[in-house]
Amino acid sequence: MSDTASPAIKKKLSCAIVGATGVAGQQFVEGLQGHPWFTITHLFASERSAGKVYKEAAVWHGEGSHPADIADMVVLSTDDIEREAANIDIFFSALPSETAREIEGRCAAFKPVISTAAAYRYDDDVPILIPEVNADHALLIRKQKERGWKGFVVPGSNCTTVGLAIALKPVMDNFGIKRVIMTSLQALSGAGYPGVASMDILDNVIPYIGKEEEKVKKELVKIIPGTYLVGATCTRVHVRDGHTETVTVETEKPCTPESFMAAVVGFNKKCREQFGPLPSAPNETIVLADGVNRPQPRLDRNTHNGMATVVGRIRTEDVFPNSISFVLLSHNTKRGAALGEILTAEYLYKQGYIA
Ligand SMILES: NC(=O)c1ccc[n+]([C@@H]2O[C@H](COP(=O)([O-])OP(=O)(O)OC[C@H]3O[C@@H](n4cnc5c(N)ncnc54)[C@H](OP(=O)(O)O)[C@@H]3O)[C@@H](O)[C@H]2O)c1
Repeated sequence: MSDTASPAIKKKLSCAIVGATGVAGQQFVEGLQGHPWFTITHLFASERSAGKVYKEAAVWHGEGSHPADIADMVVLSTDDIEREAANIDIFFSALPSETAREIEGRCAAFKPVISTAAAYRYDDDVPILIPEVNADHALLIRKQKERGWKGFVVPGSNCTTVGLAIALKPVMDNFGIKRVIMTSLQALSGAGYPGVASMDILDNVIPYIGKEEEKVKKELVKIIPGTYLVGATCTRVHVRDGHTETVTVETEKPCTPESFMAAVVGFNKKCREQFGPLPSAPNETIVLADGVNRPQPRLDRNTHNGMATVVGRIRTEDVFPNSISFVLLSHNTKRGAALGEILTAEYLYKQGYIA
């Protein structure tokens, strides 16, 4: 994490993690350790965890153990949100979507909510924000005032959509898009904890993930608007972290591997200029993989702290008059969840949306 000194930041913002004991919640805990602008002051989870200290409530999934400064923090019930809201500047939500609609709405009545959950993603006044792709969609936040909220909800995309949207942004900007065909090989951590039973996934590939394909299609065209068609096949594979996706894009204009790579270099330069000073921004938003057999989840998922989308196997196939094919890798619980949302919060803070 680069140390971005900002003259406006005199005191760190108080952050609450809602759903702090789960897979994505723990990534928020890790991602906020030593953050130059934000500090964790509140942890919320279900009644199962409320009243326990964090190290007893959360089965730790990361390396090592629960971070020392919050291991003994008491997990609060979401019934306490209204009482505590005045002491919180930002809510980071890692709740299951079924519960997120009600609980995030209660948080947003007071303060900004940055969420990994799908509950509000498809509402007209809610952007699905990926700063490097659609930062201008943040303007929608103002419309949420009409709900009577003092705060707002900004969700990130589904963890399968984020890497795809990032990789497609330079394609759309330089060549136009007619069709996208994507097959995912998704990691186990994407299913939360305990997730898929070991007897089901060991030595196996599961060729269906409920609602995932619909989410990818719906979210991609909301994030990168256009009249293009999207086909998605989502599968679960025996990998712990990191979603791999094979992608073929039919483009409006001719696109060669060389022109695609040049577009990526230009995109990275723009991202660096616009978002480089944010503490969680990767040095390169898209990393062009080195070697014909990359990206691989075990080797490449932590590139730039898990915030880079790694793209390789770039080639053209003869199936469309104009097209580009590649394989991408995106860390599902880092870029695809907590760290991606922390980057969004940093961006919204710098833009003045978070006071
Ligand atoms: N895992 C990923 O890679 C990933 C990526 C992108 C987005 N997401 C999204 O992130 C969200 C969380 O996913 P996850 O994988 O972290 O799930 P998870 O491991 O099952 O964790 C869920 C968390 O929510 C809490 N919770 C559940 N019901 C609650 C309730 N009624 N009231 C308050 N807290 C409640 C749980 O608390 P207890 O421990 O007390 O039960 C736990 O802290 C989901 O919306 C998911 O779609 C996940």
